[in-house]
Amino acid sequence: MGRKVCVVTGSSSGIGAATARLYAERGWNLVVNYSRESAPAEAVAAACRTFGAEVLVVQANVAEDADCRALAAAVEARWGRCDVLVNNAGTTKFVGLRNLDGLDAEDFQRIYAVNVVGAFQMARALEPLLKRNPPGAVVNMSSIAASTGLGSSLAYAASKGALNTMTMSLARALGPAIRVNAIAPGLVETPWLQNGMGAERYAASVQGYKARAALAEIIQPEDVARAAWYLGVDAVKTTGEVLAVDAGAKLMPM
Ligand SMILES: NC(=O)c1ccc[n+]([C@@H]2O[C@H](COP(=O)([O-])OP(=O)(O)OC[C@H]3O[C@@H](n4cnc5c(N)ncnc54)[C@H](OP(=O)(O)O)[C@@H]3O)[C@@H](O)[C@H]2O)c1
Repeated sequence: MGRKVCVVTGSSSGIGAATARLYAERGWNLVVNYSRESAPAEAVAAACRTFGAEVLVVQANVAEDADCRALAAAVEARWGRCDVLVNNAGTTKFVGLRNLDGLDAEDFQRIYAVNVVGAFQMARALEPLLKRNPPGAVVNMSSIAASTGLGSSLAYAASKGALNTMTMSLARALGPAIRVNAIAPGLVETPWLQNGMGAERYAASVQGYKARAALAEIIQPEDVARAAWYLGVDAVKTTGEVLAVDAGAKLMPM
């Protein structure tokens, strides 16, 4: 039997890149996906290849159904199988919670198009391949924002709440051949927050997070990647669940 195949959306950076590297290190072939910039995706692919993985680098905006279907067709043509889909691509707008005028309907639609509809479209496009060599698995990258209502914006938190609900619905819809779970990371050290917040606010957030998390730490992308391996591969009797990787932040008053 050939190597297993993992598709990680948004894997040119951060959590997605760490997840692609971990699956490659553990003997899988990979799709590394991005929507805008190819150079970082090529660098992640090169790192995966050092472990002997075959890697397809695919430009696809998960908000576009045609892109999702083209990605699935490329996987079918190359390997004829997909064992795990990690729906990691996400987007946001950084707007203070009290600033309701800072968000409009278009912001909601743009954020939902990637964070919710994109995950749905990818699962739908890959369903036949995920069912081909059961058990297949889908891992959705949610956020602690879904259960706290905090995070980069109200629209972002709501989109991750919707993703958690969709995780349950997809687990019902795609079982028994495919398990569907989600990860809810806390503050992860990636370019996402550093770019979105600016250096000063980011440093203050990190200090604040460490002060209230039970484990007094922020999260590394590799910590989340291990959870994506657990839910994608090891958690064979778990479906419809959301696993927090938050260093215990939600145990404390926010
Ligand atoms: N960092 C945190 O603290 C944190 C906490 C909780 C949850 N999360 C979630 O974790 C996921 C990854 O975040 P990260 O921190 O690793 O971010 P990141 O370092 O900014 O990486 C985001 C990745 O997604 C890709 N991407 C963005 N929009 C896309 C689209 N429409 N289609 C395909 N790819 C797209 C980006 O590539 P291009 O720019 O080339 O498209 C990049 O590869 C997101 O879903 C985020 O909500 C992050």
